Amino acid sequence: MDCISAALTSCFRFAVMCLMVLKAAEPSADGGGWWLPSDFRLEDEGVCNIDVLDGSSLSHQQFIERYAFSRPVILRGLTDNTRFRSSCSKSRLLEEFGSRRVRLSTANTFSYRKVDVPLQEYVDELLKPQAADALGSETLYFFGDNNFTEWQSLFELYESPPYVLPHTGGAYSFGIAGAGTGVPFHWHGPGFSEVIYGRKRWFLYPPDREPHFHPNRSTLSWLTETYPNLNGDEAPLECTIRPGEVLFFPDRWWHATLNLDTSVFISTFLG
Ligand SMILES: *[C@@H]1O[C@H](CO)[C@@H](O)[C@H](O)[C@H]1NC(C)=O
Ligand SMILES: *[C@@H]1O[C@H](CO)[C@@H](O)[C@H](O)[C@H]1NC(C)=O
Repeated sequence: MDCISAALTSCFRFAVMCLMVLKAAEPSADGGGWWLPSDFRLEDEGVCNIDVLDGSSLSHQQFIERYAFSRPVILRGLTDNTRFRSSCSKSRLLEEFGSRRVRLSTANTFSYRKVDVPLQEYVDELLKPQAADALGSETLYFFGDNNFTEWQSLFELYESPPYVLPHTGGAYSFGIAGAGTGVPFHWHGPGFSEVIYGRKRWFLYPPDREPHFHPNRSTLSWLTETYPNLNGDEAPLECTIRPGEVLFFPDRWWHATLNLDTSVFISTFLG
């Protein structure tokens, strides 16, 4: 009898240990303090019709041949950004950089207006879920325009995706934005994007297929008003990325993003 209960106890301990390990290995379960379970979050992650590969299963050469100049791809486990991620938790980022100014941009296709505020003020007063009817051109949010001198101690912790393109260097763009925000369709050079906390839904079209959108409307309004009426052949490539995944977008591909949660994210532009 004793033998059986001892076996059951150790079996139970083992199961608890396994659960703890699983929880620790799931970074997306941890919002870094950027949202509470009761906060507004978008649940619909949509379909994923972009290739998702394990980083270790794709060599640099294969990346160049199959994707770099032709289509997007999502790579999992390409880098380990555990250290950078913990430095981007809400408490640590505010403690270290709360008094530093960040440059906010309006979230429309051509990002017209810029406003400088301390990070603490942005987080306390402006970092909010996107209202469904707000115009992209009226929503201010923090993405890019980073001061790499002031934020150097943070960016030097970031492990950028190891795949580079011939004759390019990387430039970072770091941001923090509320659930439901996002940049409407636009295009530029190639690059990588990853979320450090939160989930980001991506919509992409090749350079020769300009999507229907109004440059001042938010991605959320495009998703609720235009997306449901698209024909099969007008549908975008799309996928939702989570921490630990890196999305590659090729040169001049149209793309729009939607933050499903309050998100911390970083892109590496290959210019
Ligand atoms: C970045 O921050 C440094 C140090 O505070 C400042 O001297 C510099 O003007 C800033 N650069 C830009 C582009 O704002
Ligand atoms: C978008 O908003 C900007 C700034 O408010 C305005 O100047 C521009 O005319 C608008 N564009 C369109 C197509 O409505």
